[in-house]
Amino acid sequence: MEHLGRESPNDLATIKRILVVGAGAMGSQIALVCARAGYEVLCHDVAESSLERARKDLRSRSARDVAKGRRDAGQEAAVFRRLVFGTDLDALARDVDLVIEAAVENLDLKRRIFAQLEEVAPKHAIFATNSSSFVPSKLADATSRPDLFCNIHFFNPALVMKCVEIVAGPETSAETVELAKAFVVRIGKEPVVLKKEIPGFIANRILNAVRDEAVFLYENGVASVDSIDAACRTALGYPMGPFELMDLTGIDIGYFTKKARFAETNDPKDAPSRSVTELVERGDLGRKTGRGWYEYAEDGTPLGP
Ligand code: 3HC
Repeated sequence: MEHLGRESPNDLATIKRILVVGAGAMGSQIALVCARAGYEVLCHDVAESSLERARKDLRSRSARDVAKGRRDAGQEAAVFRRLVFGTDLDALARDVDLVIEAAVENLDLKRRIFAQLEEVAPKHAIFATNSSSFVPSKLADATSRPDLFCNIHFFNPALVMKCVEIVAGPETSAETVELAKAFVVRIGKEPVVLKKEIPGFIANRILNAVRDEAVFLYENGVASVDSIDAACRTALGYPMGPFELMDLTGIDIGYFTKKARFAETNDPKDAPSRSVTELVERGDLGRKTGRGWYEYAEDGTPLGP
C-alpha cells in the first residue's frame, strides 16, 4: 500500500507532531513523556473537565520532578509549551504524524475514534492504540491504513515504567514496526516487540495470572489482601502487591478487560471475579475514587484495607 507524504517510511524524522487521544491517567502521562522527548503533542479528550484534571496532574508531577532536581524548570516550561490540550478531535488530528489512542477500553468507541481519525488525519500518519485488550486486527479495519496500524502499549505509571510493548497485526508493515520501535527508544522507553498478536500481550497476561491467583486466595479466605500483597513484595520482590497494583491501575480497567475477553471466549476463567465485580458496582475503583481494595486519604496516602 502506498502512502503519500512519507517518502522514507522508517525515518523517525518524519514524526514531529503527535496526537494522544484520551487524557486519563495513561493518555496524559504518555503525552508528557512525548513532549519531554521534544515532540509537539496534542492531547484530546471529549470532556473539558478531564483535560483540566490532566493538566493539573501533569503540572504537579512536573513541579515535583523540578523540586526533586530530576527536571530543570526552564526545560519543563518549554515542555508545557509543546503540550496542547483540546476537545476538537478533527481540528487536532489535521496535521499529525502519529496518533496514540488511549481512550477507555471499549471496542466500539475505539473503532469509532479510528474511523473518525481516518477521515481527518494525514494519509501518512501512523495510528497506534495503547489498548492491552484489543489486538490490531480488531481495530485496524476501522481505517484504510492497516499497514500503518499497530499497538504501542505503555504501562502505568507511564512516566515511570520503561517497558512499551509493540504489537503488529497481520497487515502491519515491517516499516511501521521499525518506526514504532525507533520512536519508543527515542522517548526513553524500552520496546518489547511481539512476534504475533495475542490479547493482553506479554506483561498483562503474566500479571493477570498472578492477579487471578491473588483474588482466588482472598475469596477462599486463605489470607487478607494486605497479607497477600505483603507476600508478593517480600517473597517475590514485586514493587507492589497485586491488590495495590489493581488500585493503582484502576479496578474497572481490569474488570472491563476481563468482561471483553469473556464475551469472546465464554470461558468461566475469563469472567471477572465476584469481589472485583462488587467493587466496580459500588464505584470503588481504586486510588482514583479514594477506595478500592484499600482506602486512601485525599492526598493519596493509603489508610489500610
Ligand atoms: N504517576 C507518576 N509517577 C509516579 C506515580 C504515578 N502514579 N507513582 C509513583 N511515581 C513515581 C514518582 O516519581 C515517585 O518518586 P517521588 O515520590 O520521588 O516523586 C517514584 O515513582 C517512586 O514512587 P514511590 O516512592 O511512591 O513508590 P515506589 O518506589 O513503590 O514506586 C512505582 C512506585 C513505580 C509505581 C512502583 O511501585 C512500581 O513499579 N509498581 C508496579 C507498577 C506496575 O506493575 N505497573 C504495570 C501495571 S499493568 C499496566 O499498566 C497495564 C495496562 O494495560 C493497564
